[in-house]
Amino acid sequence: MAEMAILKIGEEVYELPVIIGTEGERALDISDLRDQSGLITLDIGYKNTGSTTSSITFLNGEKGILRHRGYSIEDLAEKSSFIEVCYLLVHGELPTKEQLATWDEDIRHQTLVNEDMSNIFAAYPTGSHPMGQLVAMVSSLSSFYPESLNPNRTPEQQLHTIRRMLAKMPTICAMIYKKSAGHPKIYPNNNLDYVSNFLNMTFKHVTEDYEIDPVIVDAMDKLLILHADHEQNCSTSTVRIVGSSHANLYTSISAGIAALWGPLHGGANQEVIEMLEAIRNDGGNTEKWLDKAKDKNDPFRLMGFGHRVYKNFDPRATIIKKACDQVLTKLGIHDPVLDIAKKLEEAALNDPYFVERKLYPNVDFYSGIIYRAIGFPTEMFTVLFALGRLPGWIAQWREMRADKQPIGRPRQLYTGAVSRAYVPIEQRGAVTA
Ligand code: SDX
Repeated sequence: MAEMAILKIGEEVYELPVIIGTEGERALDISDLRDQSGLITLDIGYKNTGSTTSSITFLNGEKGILRHRGYSIEDLAEKSSFIEVCYLLVHGELPTKEQLATWDEDIRHQTLVNEDMSNIFAAYPTGSHPMGQLVAMVSSLSSFYPESLNPNRTPEQQLHTIRRMLAKMPTICAMIYKKSAGHPKIYPNNNLDYVSNFLNMTFKHVTEDYEIDPVIVDAMDKLLILHADHEQNCSTSTVRIVGSSHANLYTSISAGIAALWGPLHGGANQEVIEMLEAIRNDGGNTEKWLDKAKDKNDPFRLMGFGHRVYKNFDPRATIIKKACDQVLTKLGIHDPVLDIAKKLEEAALNDPYFVERKLYPNVDFYSGIIYRAIGFPTEMFTVLFALGRLPGWIAQWREMRADKQPIGRPRQLYTGAVSRAYVPIEQRGAVTA
């Protein structure tokens, strides 16, 4: 017998079922609250509201736990590969050797994009932000593959669209980088693994060879794993709600990319580096910038700090901070902003303002330092976040479709003008806005 919650409003009493997840989390099922009571709930920013059940990713913000399909992010980052984590997120299980080989092979042989996409790139204003280009190029895939417009096709046809999306994302991301550098694109090399192929398409110059550094491949692979999924964050919720209207996968992913661009979400990794550079250029006075972040009259926030779910530490930030030291040491790079980042973190973690609000470094705080060491310009950082998050978006979209979820359509509480008669323009006085 399900546990029931009792809601008493005035003389009326309503019963609402409490449902329990596999990790012991409890939720009040309000599916028929309005039918029972005429009431809706209001939770601006969905800070307390679950939009779905899901079996893909589990977070425990108090304990800093992140698991994909039951496997810890620590294990996956250390022992798995990004292409394997893509399989795990989409299919729900770790692949056998044969399944992984087939998955990898199918994806490798779909990495080319239609040559017409180069014409779209050519028309894009030089210097336009890479994320705006990524939104457009991913959505344009539905034009190149019109059969994908019908998301209600057979499971194998859906999987073909999914593999095609995974295969072409690195190619598109590399083309965006090449456009920003004013260099000709480098075609995919299907003899290379997923990450090496991406790095080769990005950093190989058409006039010379590019030596693929295993240290960089390993760092990039780990960063992509760490970004792969994060349950119902802003961009994933966007992918789900767009997909719930039965829009095709490419357009749903494109909408998620647009949501990720925001500086409060995935755009924070670019903002963090710009913030650290500003602090360095300002003489490294971290206390001054912490004071700005605490000043309610100053719009400045400590970018890369705070999280809606994590209230002790973001396990991804812990892994990335450790990788920062390893990668920069192996590459023989000393980046002064890393020292500033560590100094800022230490000061903030000892400052009552941040401690009281449970603000800790999140996934975006250290990631940009590694991206920069690898050679990416700051404006490409959120594109790299999107490249990592792609399998998560796809898995969540696929789960929402498989669960045959209804179109997402939240309610609201109206607080505007009540009914009033139309006033002819001659009779209207000036209304103060
Ligand atoms: C990502 O959801 C996910 O899972 C996202 C993500 C993923 O993998 O998909 O983890 C990726 O988006 C990480 C977050 C990247 N964003 C940033 O680093 C931007 C800086 N951080 C914030 O703006 C903020 O912390 C959020 C957006 C991340 C979370 O915001 P919330 O949960 O809505 O919290 P809030 O804005 O209500 O803040 C609560 C209090 C406020 O102060 P008071 O009104 O209580 O006095 O904390 C303060 C805020 O002013 N605060 C900060 C702060 N973050 C929160 N003050 C200074 N600097 C900050 N960074």
